[in-house]
Amino acid sequence: MSFARVIGTGSYLPEKILTSKELESMVDTTEQWIISRTGVRERRIAAAHERTSDLAEHASRAALDAAGVSPEELDLIVVATTTADYVFPSVACLLQDRLGIHNGGPAFDVQAVCTGFVYALDVVNRFFLTGGSKKALVVGAETFSRIIDWTDRNTCILFGDGAGAVVLEASDEPGIVSSHLHADGKYHELLNVSAGVSANYEQVLRGEAYTQMHGSEVFKWAVKTLGDIVDETLAANSLTKSDIDWLIPHQANIRIINATAKKLGISMEQVVVTVDRHGNTSAASIPLAFDEAVRDGRIKRGHKVIMEGFGGGFTWGSILLVY
Ligand code: ACO
Repeated sequence: MSFARVIGTGSYLPEKILTSKELESMVDTTEQWIISRTGVRERRIAAAHERTSDLAEHASRAALDAAGVSPEELDLIVVATTTADYVFPSVACLLQDRLGIHNGGPAFDVQAVCTGFVYALDVVNRFFLTGGSKKALVVGAETFSRIIDWTDRNTCILFGDGAGAVVLEASDEPGIVSSHLHADGKYHELLNVSAGVSANYEQVLRGEAYTQMHGSEVFKWAVKTLGDIVDETLAANSLTKSDIDWLIPHQANIRIINATAKKLGISMEQVVVTVDRHGNTSAASIPLAFDEAVRDGRIKRGHKVIMEGFGGGFTWGSILLVY
């Protein structure tokens, strides 16, 4: 059997930093409220000319460099995003062209909001398991700032922009070991942008297609499902939490991350946290955190890593991989 093994990671953050202090002059809030309720000190905001595909390209080139792989070697590109440049074509196709790849390999986007990267890794892993890919690029990229109402203090304090990417290669050595995906659409009204091409299009035309969230209900669900999904992952692989070296949760709120770690009895030393500097970058949050911890040497070859995500839909899921 051939595993999908990570051979390179990369990430990109836009230059502009928006601090929680600066938000005091934009909405009725305080830096102290934001930090104590969410843990977010600052987030990055894409420049007006920067698109999701730009962020994705930067992160992808960094991952390709780290892997020592030339773009033409890739036979599959999957981008997880909720904030694609266009209705179509996909960011993955735009990225394929930017990278100069014209080998006819498939390229497509996956949309599962903040669980998007986990969904994308699961899908790509299935390509590897069936021999459909030998070298793939998987990206999580978002310009979430574009679907935020910057006068709504309930949401604008949480989100940021960024991108992360991994290059996967077919290998006899362990890589992605298992993946677990879930969704329950009955909760779609708790977290959404309820405007698009075929519904409430006038909001899009007015530039008012914004994220709406019932924060405290989303919070409760996130804590429950993120705890359950780790239990499910460990049980499916006959592992205990002491077998896990690193937990990389979706970076939505430090209180959700703390509560999940506490519920699982995992030390915060083993949890990769970037929410303080990145905010919630949706599908980009997990690969951004992964790249940071790989590059600073915390995650080493052979380490067992659980990635877990939760987002609009609701969607949730996890990946267990050996780095
Ligand atoms: N500054 C000051 N006060 C605020 C702010 C703010 N920025 N935002 C809300 N408040 C007020 C509310 O109005 C409320 O006031 P009230 O009691 O007078 O009505 C009070 O603070 C408490 O509001 P809650 O919503 O109960 O606050 P909570 O502690 O739940 O924190 C938060 C809000 C940070 C949004 C939290 O609920 C949260 O993180 N939710 C989860 C978000 C998430 O995980 N999303 C993940 C998926 S994202 C995706 O898929 C796109």
